[in-house]
Amino acid sequence: MDTKTWDFRNINAHLPANDDIEEIKRIYQQGGLIALPTETVYGLGGNAKNDEAVKAIYEAKGRPSDNPLIVHIHSMSQLADFTQNISAETLTLMRHFWPGPISFIVPLKPGYLCDRVSGGLSSIAVRMPSHKVGRYILQQVDLPIAAPSANLSGRPSPTLFEHVYQDLNGRVDGIINGDQSEEGLESTVLDCTVFPFRIARPGSITKQMIEDVIPNSVDAVTDYNSDKPIAPGMKYKHYAPDTPLTIIRNFNKVPTTLSEWHKVAFIVPDNKKHLVPQKAQFISLCSDTNDLKEANHNLYSILHRLDNDTNINHAYIYGFNDSEQSNAYMNRLMKAANQQEIEGEDL
Ligand code: TXA
Ligand code: MG
Repeated sequence: MDTKTWDFRNINAHLPANDDIEEIKRIYQQGGLIALPTETVYGLGGNAKNDEAVKAIYEAKGRPSDNPLIVHIHSMSQLADFTQNISAETLTLMRHFWPGPISFIVPLKPGYLCDRVSGGLSSIAVRMPSHKVGRYILQQVDLPIAAPSANLSGRPSPTLFEHVYQDLNGRVDGIINGDQSEEGLESTVLDCTVFPFRIARPGSITKQMIEDVIPNSVDAVTDYNSDKPIAPGMKYKHYAPDTPLTIIRNFNKVPTTLSEWHKVAFIVPDNKKHLVPQKAQFISLCSDTNDLKEANHNLYSILHRLDNDTNINHAYIYGFNDSEQSNAYMNRLMKAANQQEIEGEDL
């Protein structure tokens, strides 16, 4: 299959040409797949009403069919088509955080979307992204767009056009370039079919931020690391680079006897650079140890780089101390590092 690409990085200066938009619209309407940028990660989009399109998404990614997709919208008015009985509290949160990096699981109204998109569940995850390009496309196309992260199953989520191209060129109808995803980690997924709500996947919108809007509305217990998580996607094996990756929290415990230091990379904040052994490689994670936003933004592109760089045999990556803000980063990192870590608090 030929994969067409569009470069819309310059959308602030001029809007995409009408012909391009018409072509994209037509491809989605006819059940084709186009990857599009969002502020979290790139998504592999298809018409959520079209069973062939949704089936093709699972095939293109090599994704297990019991792992439901998030439906992307541009307007709250679209909700009435395929959801029902959304609580007043949930609507308050949607109005507060959308467009933005949070998906809400709400009761599904059957009959409008194809059954496959929700993996046979009676609920559906919905998100309204804020990314300039992604949002513009959703508005123009005006369809509910099902979109998992635009990577092959088992690979890191893509935060750059090049990542999507590497994984999906030849497997999808098109890829839209909208520059690097600002956030860099997938959205928070909040289960709103129960109250208090439950976080099914941690992201940059934290429990505290939600409870600042509605006090005491989020269950204290999270189970996304259990065998039976709320979000089926959390149970699958996630990406781990071929290069062995170890989380490092305490530089005093780094082995000092490695022979091939020049093939070892330390992915750490700039203000920890002085602790990196002289002969080892330094990769900047973020400017300082407080800058989680930047670490989130960079994480997946650094993981992509590890597998493309034959000069790195082993990598140590900085583990932030446990906090609400570090939850999403550490959740992704523990999976990438197969739980390998050097214990101890950061000093
Ligand atoms: O930031 C994001 O959320 C990105 C961008 C493209 O929007 N999308 C994304 O989709 O990460 P995906 O398919 O890779 O992850 C969706 C997660 C999975 O863990 C899935 O199991 C969960 O959401 N999920 C979706 N629908 C659900 C439902 N009805 N009940 C429970 N979990 C659900
Ligand atoms: Mg994914």
